[in-house]
Amino acid sequence: MRLLFVASEAYPLIKTGGLADVAGSLPEVLRQQGMDVRLLLPAYQHVLESIEPPEFVADMEVDGTALRILATRLPGTELITWLLEHPVFSQRPGNPYHDHLGQPWPDNADRFALLSRAAAAIATGTAGLDWRPEVLHCNDWHTGLAVALTHLSEQRPRTVFTVHSLAHMGLFDRETFDRLRLPAHFWSDSALEFYNQCSFIKGGLVYADYITTVSPGYAREICEAPGGMGLEGLISQRRERLVGILNGIDNRVWNPATDPYLEHPFSPETLDAKARNKAALRASLGLAPAEDRPLVGLVGRLVEQKGLELILPVLESFLELPVQLAILGTGEPRYEQRLQAVAAAHPDAMAVVLAYDESLAHRIEAAADIFLMPSLFEPCGLNQLYSLRYGTLPLVRAVGGLADTVVDTNAQSVADGSATGFVFRRPDAGELLAAMQRAAALWYDKQSWRQVQLTAMRQDFSWQQSANRYLQLYNDTA
Ligand code: ADP
Ligand code: GLC
Repeated sequence: MRLLFVASEAYPLIKTGGLADVAGSLPEVLRQQGMDVRLLLPAYQHVLESIEPPEFVADMEVDGTALRILATRLPGTELITWLLEHPVFSQRPGNPYHDHLGQPWPDNADRFALLSRAAAAIATGTAGLDWRPEVLHCNDWHTGLAVALTHLSEQRPRTVFTVHSLAHMGLFDRETFDRLRLPAHFWSDSALEFYNQCSFIKGGLVYADYITTVSPGYAREICEAPGGMGLEGLISQRRERLVGILNGIDNRVWNPATDPYLEHPFSPETLDAKARNKAALRASLGLAPAEDRPLVGLVGRLVEQKGLELILPVLESFLELPVQLAILGTGEPRYEQRLQAVAAAHPDAMAVVLAYDESLAHRIEAAADIFLMPSLFEPCGLNQLYSLRYGTLPLVRAVGGLADTVVDTNAQSVADGSATGFVFRRPDAGELLAAMQRAAALWYDKQSWRQVQLTAMRQDFSWQQSANRYLQLYNDTA
């Protein structure tokens, strides 16, 4: 079966978040299972600068715009990756979505309409290529329009649209809609219109044969307010076509036994080596070598979604428990500044690195005892999965994919051996602090802690099972 998988980012070529982790691993797993897969990405300047010169595949024209398709292999894999070359991608340095001040690129509608048009042209056989997919799998708002555009053709492929997050809907005004010269009938509540704006994500939600979300919990949450963010009516109408499939993790990239970023790789059999990673991390971040207290890690975008409003009021109470904190992330300046200020007042106990740093992300996962992820909403979340694998017990809020993947530690779950982390329910800083108190207390009970760590590390979140569920859907759309 031929599959075209389209995304706006894929690890390791270009990554801003979990979407890249998924697009950089799922298509390769599907290829290994025998599918004929092409991954289609924009040829961002950053991508072209980081790879060997790609091969030329074809010139194409969509809606009067000339484009080129180039081919490379996704590094570390055999996956054929097509790069869509146009100056709006290849002559734009930095982040795929916004400038250095965090302002969206002003031509984002044009850029991702172009990606979508090219994907639809390839998928409907009008791009002049000798390869045409049977299934088109699109991801998030950047590619939603592609799904809608395939409906203009009689040569329509089967389509799957995955929602990684509803928080970004690709909303543009009427003027932009007109400028893009999209079919007039798309300006309708039953198509792309959303409260007098044009929503690219609706292209996927309205027109895809199947909609998937990245966890079963999130699939349920988006059928209702507030999780549906105003789209719950549409999504619940399509409930029969909505499937939640949990993300997997890439075992080549996130494996504590082979992780090249770690000074001291470890496995369940050599879990004691984790302490050496902790000592190394503390030293490199300037934290006191305090062996009598747990180390809490946080890696992620510093935005409201990730629960910063819950964390900030209780940060100092965390330090008094006592725990130490190692935080890595970038995001909203107000959060960055507050975190930095608290760290500056407690340099022995708290370190904040405001950067995007792949190596440090791995080293925090390996070194920390507890991983903090109290999200307000979380479609899947990958960091808690990485944490489980690294024997770093996640402390999460019971929402979306976090609720689906972490089992709270209590008398019963310890007794039946299912406990893997710490879960609290309401979005309330007091509840978060109480959960942290429980976690810190259990840490002193070395035997129970070790048991929960080993259970966490044994969880299987590899892609195999989830990839099979996607395969079933691709076949079902037939
Ligand atoms: P989201 O996609 O909502 O940001 P996920 O948990 O699904 O959340 O995925 C986040 C991914 O991005 C993880 O692979 C995480 O390690 C990575 N990441 C986030 N922030 C940073 C950072 N500052 N440095 C390195 N990696 C980061
Ligand atoms: C989004 C979500 C995150 C999910 C990721 C990959 O960024 O916020 O929860 O893990 O996509 O699907």
